[in-house]
Amino acid sequence: MSPTAPTTATPESARFDLIYADPPWRYGFSRSASRAIENQYPTMTHEDICALEVPASDNAVLYLWAVAPKLPEALEVMAAWGFTYKSCSIWDKQRLGMGYWWRGQHELLLVGVKGKFSPPAQPLRRSSVFSIKSGRHSEKPAAIRDYIVSAFPHAKRLEMFARVASPGWAVWGNEVEPTVDVPGAGEFVPLVTSDGAEQLDLFG
Ligand SMILES: C[S@@+](CC[C@H](N)C(=O)[O-])C[C@H]1O[C@@H](n2cnc3c(N)ncnc32)[C@H](O)[C@@H]1O
Repeated sequence: MSPTAPTTATPESARFDLIYADPPWRYGFSRSASRAIENQYPTMTHEDICALEVPASDNAVLYLWAVAPKLPEALEVMAAWGFTYKSCSIWDKQRLGMGYWWRGQHELLLVGVKGKFSPPAQPLRRSSVFSIKSGRHSEKPAAIRDYIVSAFPHAKRLEMFARVASPGWAVWGNEVEPTVDVPGAGEFVPLVTSDGAEQLDLFG
């Protein structure tokens, strides 16, 4: 997928300096329907995630969650939304998961920038590793969202694919009352297959 900036007609005043997104990545296989992510929430195709018209300001930062096997796709999403990859941090979930290459215990939080956007002030730069015990399926620690706020307290913030509405954030997702529109996603088609590999590739 070629890196193209979103062609949003949204006026700058209705766009956001800081985007925090946790996409519903779709996996190709699930041997047992009971293990499918779609039992937790609907997923989206890579193409549909890339096609979202993210209402980012001309100068903005993106924090994008990625699971290890989806790292190439996550970098493509970042580029498709108009951001340039800068760095990443790791969330150590303090709980051993599944996986083929590793028993997965972490997720990645990628950081990208659009236009000009300065990193956090030096005293606010913290370790790139967050060690926080995981909670319910796919839930990301509130402490990480809180850190992002503390790093950019004056940024106009949007959480995409939110499951809770957090004070100080605009939110969008199908499990919250959205406060903004994010056009561009194609029609949702649930995907649960009855054959193929078990969904162990979640964690690589
Ligand atoms: C990985 S989860 C987000 C988890 C969240 N960050 C948390 O900490 O609880 C992805 C979310 O995207 C939502 N979602 C799936 N398809 C969607 C769509 N087409 N439009 C909006 N949200 C969608 C799912 O229902 C789910 O709430």
